[in-house]
Amino acid sequence: MEKILILDFGSQYTQLIARRVRELNVYCEIHPFNKIPEIETDVKGVILSGSPSSVRDVEAPNPDLKNIRTKLPLLGVCYGAQLLAKQSGGEVEGAPSREYGRAMLTVTSPNDPLMIGIPSPTQVWMSHGDTITELPPSFKIIGSTENVKVAAYHIDDEPTWGIQFHPEVYHSLAGKDILANFVLGICGCSGSWSPDSFIETTVEDLKERIGSDRVILGLSGGVDSSVAAMLLHKAIGDHLTCIFVNNGLLRKNEFSDVLNSYKGMGLNVIGVDASEKFYADLKGVTDPEQKRKIIGRDFVEVFNDEAKKIKDAKWLAQGTIYPDVIESCSVKGPSATIKSHHNVGGLPKEMNLKVVEPLRLLFKDEVRRVGRALKMDPKLLGRHPFPGPGLGIRILGDVTPEKVRILQEADAIFINNLKEAGLYDEVWQAGVILLPVQSVGVMGDERTYENCVALRAVISTDGMTADWVHLPYEFLAKTSNQIINKVKGVNRVVYDISSKPPATIEWE
Ligand code: XMP
Repeated sequence: MEKILILDFGSQYTQLIARRVRELNVYCEIHPFNKIPEIETDVKGVILSGSPSSVRDVEAPNPDLKNIRTKLPLLGVCYGAQLLAKQSGGEVEGAPSREYGRAMLTVTSPNDPLMIGIPSPTQVWMSHGDTITELPPSFKIIGSTENVKVAAYHIDDEPTWGIQFHPEVYHSLAGKDILANFVLGICGCSGSWSPDSFIETTVEDLKERIGSDRVILGLSGGVDSSVAAMLLHKAIGDHLTCIFVNNGLLRKNEFSDVLNSYKGMGLNVIGVDASEKFYADLKGVTDPEQKRKIIGRDFVEVFNDEAKKIKDAKWLAQGTIYPDVIESCSVKGPSATIKSHHNVGGLPKEMNLKVVEPLRLLFKDEVRRVGRALKMDPKLLGRHPFPGPGLGIRILGDVTPEKVRILQEADAIFINNLKEAGLYDEVWQAGVILLPVQSVGVMGDERTYENCVALRAVISTDGMTADWVHLPYEFLAKTSNQIINKVKGVNRVVYDISSKPPATIEWE
């Protein structure tokens, strides 16, 4: 399989480069700059990412590129471009002021292979504190902006290019075309890596690796585990046993609905209702992290008890996706913590299972594309993300079955209304939070003292940042009315208008 290597120098945009390359139907992998893998014949080209570092720092990343440069097509982006210039004796200096934002690129060599068909001028996105002030003699400028003379260069008689701007960012209007010129044109990739070809090779690979062994997989109702299950099902049919645990903290009717839809897809699935165990163990616990730990631990126990009954199991399948496995040298932001509390599953050690992760090469949007190619129900593929600990972290304070009931009812009204109003797919994630607050109300002639719920709806691409959604007032009015009238125990509804950061999506 042909591939592009992306060497990561820690830029916040590295994954975006990978996604753009994948959008060209070319497989690519991200590796840290200090762990360059063996360059096999399937590598068709290399991209060097940007970085928060400055090439002028003594400590700055400065890998030896002798196995790559001149041997393979090479494109340096931002820091990558500066590094190549500096390594060849060029000058890089601190820019008078950090250049951040839009700039207009004038293509000065329209016949250069990297610039073929690129309009001039074209808007590009800059984000750098340093600038190349002097190029080695063999480096030829192929594009400039008003402030940055060396915005793009090509090294004479060498398949090496550098660009100061970020082609991977949406605001670089011809960015994808420039990447296409590199990946499809210069590197000569065929662009044949599609969901269908992924399914074909993955299914073949799974058949070969697993043979007639039995595989266990924990389904969560989410997109990743469902698509992983379907791929395995295609490869090994009934040798896959899926376990779907009801922790009592799922959405209203979710356990039975999802279980039925899994069965409808032909999956061999065992549904385990362990709600009572979770409620018992959560009784009186108010600390969010404690709740998460209990829910995680209970899940592992229930899952393991069930898995142990499958005597001849040899493999545990997981829905791990590419962002979870990229060994990145990026500065660890909030993502590091999010990851730690995402991993609710666990491996029953004494069972000695081998792990199989059919989606570990894919980004989330690619998992959906694969799901579509597998003809899976669009409703299942389009579902909002839902946290592993479920409603357990949307009930602030201690969890009781009665509170779960109240929240499930309110949540179902909100989500159904979003669907009915055609808003569900425009929202990235939505849900209701049950607050530990009682307030006074009047219903008929009676004074009430009941619960308050908060509605939350956000747009986001990966959950790292999020904006609250400007839902129409009429929609909010109708939803609030229905919740207060229909859900016994709720007399007040508020709408959360906080963005992340500084707030988070969940309240706990
Ligand atoms: P926050 O609240 O950190 O959430 O802005 C970001 C995304 O992560 C989800 N989330 C979790 N997912 N276990 C999970 O599996 C958790 O403990 C957990 N906490 C938050 C949240 O729903 C959102 O999609």
